[in-house]
Amino acid sequence: MAYDRLFFQAYENYLDEVGVRQTHDEMLNLFRVLYGRRKLRGSPTKVVQASKGPDPHRAPAVVDLGCGQSHEYQKYGSYSDYLGIDRDHGESSDSFMTMDYRDERAWNSRVFQQETLDEWSARVSPDFMTDIDIAVMQAHRIKQADVFVSLFSTEITAPHRKNQRLYEVLFANLPEMRFGLVSGFYYWNKRHLNPVKEAGDVVSFQTLDPPEAMASEWYSEQRFTVACPSKMFGPDVYEVWRVLERRRR
Ligand SMILES: C[S@@+](CC[C@H](N)C(=O)[O-])C[C@H]1O[C@@H](n2cnc3c(N)ncnc32)[C@H](O)[C@@H]1O
Repeated sequence: MAYDRLFFQAYENYLDEVGVRQTHDEMLNLFRVLYGRRKLRGSPTKVVQASKGPDPHRAPAVVDLGCGQSHEYQKYGSYSDYLGIDRDHGESSDSFMTMDYRDERAWNSRVFQQETLDEWSARVSPDFMTDIDIAVMQAHRIKQADVFVSLFSTEITAPHRKNQRLYEVLFANLPEMRFGLVSGFYYWNKRHLNPVKEAGDVVSFQTLDPPEAMASEWYSEQRFTVACPSKMFGPDVYEVWRVLERRRR
C-alpha cells in the first residue's frame, strides 16, 4: 500500500480527467439535490424544488474522512462548513485534522461530550489559539456536522463489515449526523479478488456486496453504480456511490 507523493500527484491528474470529473460531479450534484430535498421533507410546501447553485442555508456541514491531498469534496462538493480528516492531508489550516478515523476511542472520547465543548467555548480566545484549542474547536465542528463523506477512502481501505461498524459508531456517537456519502468501486474483470492490487501499488477493497447484504439498523442506503473508465485505473472500473441516511430510532 503506498499513498505516497507519486500516488497523490497521479490522483490529482486522475480527478481532472474529463470523464472522471463528469461522473464525480454528477454524483456530487445528485447528493446535493437529495440532501436538499430530504432536509425539506415535512415542510408545508407540497412540491419540493431542488435548490440550484450554492445555497449556504441548505448546504450540509461536512466531515470528510480520508480527504487525501486533493480534497475533492472541498473543491467540488457543496457545504456550509468543511473539515477534512486524514492521516496525511498535507495541509496546515484548521480546516484539516490529522487523525486515524478508524480509532473508535477517538469517536467515543470525552472530547465529544457537551460539557467539554461548553467549557472550551467559554475559555478560548480567538486571538490566541493553542493546538489543543484548535483540536477541541475541530471536535466541536465534528459534533455539529450533519454529513460525513468519504470519497474512495473508507470503502477501499477495509472490508465492508469493518466499514459498517465505523458508520454505526459515527451515527451512534454524533447525534447530529444524518447522512453519509461514501464511494468505492469494483473492477469488472477482478470481481473474484478482494482486496485487489491497483495503480500505484495500492491494495484496495472492492465494494462488491449488494445493499441487502450490507444493511444496518442504524442507516438506510441508496446506491448508485456508474461506469467510470479512466487512464489511471483502467477501462473496467465501476464506481459505487452509497448514500447512507440515519434511520429514525
Ligand atoms: C484514495 S485517497 C482518497 C482521496 C481523497 N478523498 C481526495 O479527495 O483526494 C485515500 C486516503 O485515505 C487516507 N486514509 C486511509 N486510511 C485512513 C485512516 N484510517 N485514517 C485517516 N486517513 C486514512 C489515506 O491517507 C489517503 O489520503
